[in-house]
Amino acid sequence: MITLSSTTDMRSWAEQQRAAGKTIGFVPTMGALHSGHVALIADAARRADVVVVSIFVNPLQFNESTDFDSYPRPIHDDVATCSAAGVAAVFAPTASAMYPPGFQTRVLSGALGDVMEGPNRPGHFEGVATIVAKLLGAVRPHVAIFGQKDFQQLRIITQMVTDLELGVEIIGHPIVRDPDGVAQSSRNARLSTNQRRAAVAVPHSLDAAVWAANDTDDVEVVVSAALAVVVGEPLAEHEYTTVFDATTLQAISTLTPALRSPGKVRIGTAVWFGDIRLIDNCDLFPA
Ligand code: PAF
Repeated sequence: MITLSSTTDMRSWAEQQRAAGKTIGFVPTMGALHSGHVALIADAARRADVVVVSIFVNPLQFNESTDFDSYPRPIHDDVATCSAAGVAAVFAPTASAMYPPGFQTRVLSGALGDVMEGPNRPGHFEGVATIVAKLLGAVRPHVAIFGQKDFQQLRIITQMVTDLELGVEIIGHPIVRDPDGVAQSSRNARLSTNQRRAAVAVPHSLDAAVWAANDTDDVEVVVSAALAVVVGEPLAEHEYTTVFDATTLQAISTLTPALRSPGKVRIGTAVWFGDIRLIDNCDLFPA
């Protein structure tokens, strides 16, 4: 496995692979790799000849400098994880390589970025779309894999790739969950033992919503079912729960018959445990 830190080196390595007739699968990450990332890497390996993982904690997508500063950066463990997972190249650029003096261009996420996470995290999706556009330009992959846990991010990137005709296939990988149902996230490592135990309220609230949606068309009833679970957990502080159209990401108020099939409607939530913010989502009418 090779580790590359400059865009020039990354791009010339990718050119060599392409010249040799190899397809490139790409998993962009901010490091602190866990088994959810390893599942994305395995997915990329099934779809392409060689896999590239990028590790870059992107300052442009953080609203709070404390969140950026405290984001875990276990680079040696991450490189070892990539090597064990059969990754061909790790791209780990520095912030000054990605954002040199004079850097000024931004990719705007449009209406897809104005809902759910958007208002709570000003500039976040602009930062994500900008860095992903840059990473795709450096790695030149045939296919790139993103987790569905960040469903809004996945949808924004898919739209960006279509709109800017970036010529890469974007795949959404199903959420990888711990045995108790909590979605895997690099932020879980910061939860205390009690907070980690309490975090199960998040997937349980989504389960409660899925059950409720079987018996009602009224989204308020569905959201109340989810809220009742989170409110019942003293360590949890609820931020938002939204039922939304999986394509437009716009909020839905009535679950019409046309919407009651897999892939059309999702429910998403953000919940705080102390200073740690967890997000999760699921299909409201799973197959
Ligand atoms: O999902 C993430 O880890 C990040 O938002 C991404 C896509 C690597 C961009 O920094």
